[in-house]
Amino acid sequence: MSWQSGGPHSSGTDASCNTRGCHLNNPHGAGASQYKIFAAKLIGNMPNLADSGAKADLSVAAAVSNPTSSGVTANLLNGFEEDGTTPLDNGTRQAVVVGYTCNSWGCHEQTMLPVINKGYAEDRLTKYPESFGTEVLKTGHITASAEATSAHASYNPIYGCTSCHDQTDDATRSGFTFPHSQTAVGASNLGAGRAWLWMGIASNAAGSDLTAMSDPNMKSFDGACLKCHRSSDGAAGVGASH
Ligand code: HEC
Ligand code: HEC
Repeated sequence: MSWQSGGPHSSGTDASCNTRGCHLNNPHGAGASQYKIFAAKLIGNMPNLADSGAKADLSVAAAVSNPTSSGVTANLLNGFEEDGTTPLDNGTRQAVVVGYTCNSWGCHEQTMLPVINKGYAEDRLTKYPESFGTEVLKTGHITASAEATSAHASYNPIYGCTSCHDQTDDATRSGFTFPHSQTAVGASNLGAGRAWLWMGIASNAAGSDLTAMSDPNMKSFDGACLKCHRSSDGAAGVGASH
């Protein structure tokens, strides 16, 4: 794989990857999150907001203290399957671990990434970096398991972050260029090179015309949404029947 990318983590500079401090640089887990699903990925837990690097426990604290609205319980974070209210599917686990790691203070602190329960909101900054913004309650698109239903004009389900950040690369262990911002060097659904936001756009749920975001402004193209919100034949869904 190649780490030379135009993405937020390296901006073409390999050294930046090493200074983000999401994963621990020791194999034994010292300094990891108290929660097992983070610790299993060696996600760090810097104790103070001012520290550089992942602050897993601080980042997820608001969700843990509001489990009914957030859908995030301590059991979920420790991977206990028997917690019936938060079934531990892989997509939900990915949304929580990746989302709250990216949401660490000093990093993507302006977006609400891991929305498990529809409408759940947390304080996020209006702008990045923090010195330019104030905190407001923000929610976002549901990012964990969500069935596709024509009632919502959704024709593809969401399994986790990679349902939207869907650039594949068979040279990576996960099969995706997300969340590590690799430039695809293996076979990829979006061709050679790195797609912006690790994302493709398509005119409908069949995705037969899926193409890479090749420009940062393409994040606001309709195709980022129509690849799920327009039926496979393009006849129904947002802008057609909804
Ligand atoms: C429903 C589709 C969808 C899902 C699911 C989704 N994203 Fe995104 N994501 C987007 C879109 C669209 C943008 C660009 C929005 C913008 O920049 O205004 C984006 C932008 C981002 C960005 C960069 C921009 C920023 O403002 O911080 C990050 C990081 C990100 N997503 C992480 C995640 C993570 C982590 C998950 C899973 C918890 C996730 N996304 C799930 C659609 C999605
Ligand atoms: C990977 C597929 C996927 C993508 C891409 C996607 N969505 Fe969704 N969206 C869904 C699913 C599935 C639901 C239904 C969630 C639920 O209510 O259970 C949904 C629900 C919604 C809803 C709530 C609708 C309702 O009736 O409650 C809105 C609004 C929405 N999406 C907007 C967007 C926008 C805007 C984009 C593009 C930035 C987008 N979606 C991209 C799959 C997707």
